[in-house]
Amino acid sequence: MTNNNLNYRIGSIDDIDQLQDLHIIAYGQFQNALTPDNWATFSSNHQNRQRFVDILNIATCFVCLDNDKIIGVAYVILSGNPTDLFKTEWSYIRMVGVNPKYRGQGIANALTKMCIDFAKKNNEKIIALHTSEFMDAARHIYESIGFKVLQEIPPLFGKKYWLYTLDLN
Ligand SMILES: CC(C)(COP(=O)(O)OP(=O)(O)OC[C@H]1O[C@@H](n2cnc3c(N)ncnc32)[C@H](O)[C@@H]1OP(=O)(O)O)[C@@H](O)C(=O)NCCC(=O)NCCS
Repeated sequence: MTNNNLNYRIGSIDDIDQLQDLHIIAYGQFQNALTPDNWATFSSNHQNRQRFVDILNIATCFVCLDNDKIIGVAYVILSGNPTDLFKTEWSYIRMVGVNPKYRGQGIANALTKMCIDFAKKNNEKIIALHTSEFMDAARHIYESIGFKVLQEIPPLFGKKYWLYTLDLN
């Protein structure tokens, strides 16, 4: 599907309802990839509005719109916001998602590259992300952009996960 009404911009807390809805729609495809228990844990994260408030407080988020409707998103967090996975000196990408009706048009690829360009403009040296064996399209995108597996991390939701990094120098 080619769509000439697509635009990109930076999202904000004012978009939170649409961002949460998009996340639920985009990640809904994984229901059959996980056991019922793991799906319950995985999807309960997406129902948690505070999680979106928290990420919007520290991230810059790039959104893709069809007219006024947000149909794609990627969040980038600059260094200085460490987690159990991501080092203090790394920037990192979180929660890339595209509405299933708009897939295969390069939207996630474009949003991921916007995150990388934003990190570079902010003089970041490394950009990281984590993804899983059940996220095939995402791994394809990240690997084609040049992200490399740094290490396997402990399983989540019963699935293998890897930490990826891209050198921005
Ligand atoms: C991953 C996701 C964001 C991709 O969105 P998208 O806009 O369709 O992605 P793009 O069109 O930019 O690129 C898709 C690429 O994946 C490839 N692809 C699609 N399905 C695939 C699969 N099952 N296995 C491997 N590659 C696949 C496409 O061929 C395309 O690659 P190409 O450009 O080299 O042909 C979307 O599928 C999604 O929201 N998935 C659920 C959430 C998710 O997994 N998020 C990532 C978490 S780390």
